[in-house]
Amino acid sequence: MGDAGPISWFGEALRCPCAHRAALTATPEGMVCTRACEHSPLPLVDGKPVLVDFSASVLDRAAVLASGGASPVRRRGGALRTKLFDLAFGRNRVAEANAKRFLDLLPAGGRVLIIGGGALGAGVDQVYARPDIRTVTFDVYASPLTDLIADGHAIPLADGSVDGVWIQAVLEHVLDPWQVVAEIHRVLAPTGIVYAETPFLQHVHEGAYDFTRFTESGHRWLFRQFEEIASGTVLGPGTVLVWSVRYAAAGLFRSWKAGTIAALIASPLRLLDRVIPARYAIDGASGVFFLGRRSTTALSPRDAVRRYQGAIGRG
Ligand SMILES: C[S@@+](CC[C@H](N)C(=O)[O-])C[C@H]1O[C@@H](n2cnc3c(N)ncnc32)[C@H](O)[C@@H]1O
Ligand SMILES: [Zn+2]
Repeated sequence: MGDAGPISWFGEALRCPCAHRAALTATPEGMVCTRACEHSPLPLVDGKPVLVDFSASVLDRAAVLASGGASPVRRRGGALRTKLFDLAFGRNRVAEANAKRFLDLLPAGGRVLIIGGGALGAGVDQVYARPDIRTVTFDVYASPLTDLIADGHAIPLADGSVDGVWIQAVLEHVLDPWQVVAEIHRVLAPTGIVYAETPFLQHVHEGAYDFTRFTESGHRWLFRQFEEIASGTVLGPGTVLVWSVRYAAAGLFRSWKAGTIAALIASPLRLLDRVIPARYAIDGASGVFFLGRRSTTALSPRDAVRRYQGAIGRG
């Protein structure tokens, strides 16, 4: 690495997204792959490297450059909208508790990669708030939180270069979650920690960029190359009902505003989550999480079945 760009501790770990993940040299035109591959020079947008293999990404090079790294999905922010969503769907307290566990498992001075961190997810504020933790954040678009534009299918970091990976509400938006998880395994140090949260029974969001859902068992299997520390549900069947009311009302009235109003009216259904036992929640949750440690051995197919903790077939 040279000295162009606002790159800090992770500068040494940056790699070209090409198959051999070659080292990069910084130049005023952008990053140059030391293998002189087809991606070189990799451009900068707003001073931040764009480390994307455009030949295998949903991102389009010309569009990224022309838009200054804008999100391909229209993002409506605003404090009022966030407040209404919090009221309708509730706070994600599971993520808040899991962030504490995640941080406790990291070594002193730990390096954390946050994938799809363009917006601040629940709990991740605790990771940013820890002065002893060094973070590197990427997303497919540039935001004040991101250090790089990159695609999780080809993480532009060296093997074993981070101690923790945080990937929250992202794996449903990638075309190939199995490839992204293989990449997470590659960039983690030998005993590195991953925290993932992914929808199970949540409706389509982010439009065209929404591809996959996971049961708790399927999510565990997705992370089969990791030793399980904890796995479970995020927001239960009551919250799923509120999501269903929102989408049914939006369809009925052909209006997302009507959907949000209906979700606010239906929001007391979320209280069901407080009384539904964990084993029933597993089979009907809005989302699932996995906290695990990188491993060299994989969960066996029979153990993937044996570990099921849901209520079906158990009364
Ligand atoms: C539902 S948002 C979640 C944002 C944030 N992690 C949170 O928890 O609020 C999904 C995020 O995944 C990002 N994303 C989609 N495809 C991606 C990819 N291939 N690589 C990295 N991030 C991606 C989106 O741009 C978006 O920021
Ligand atoms: Zn290259």
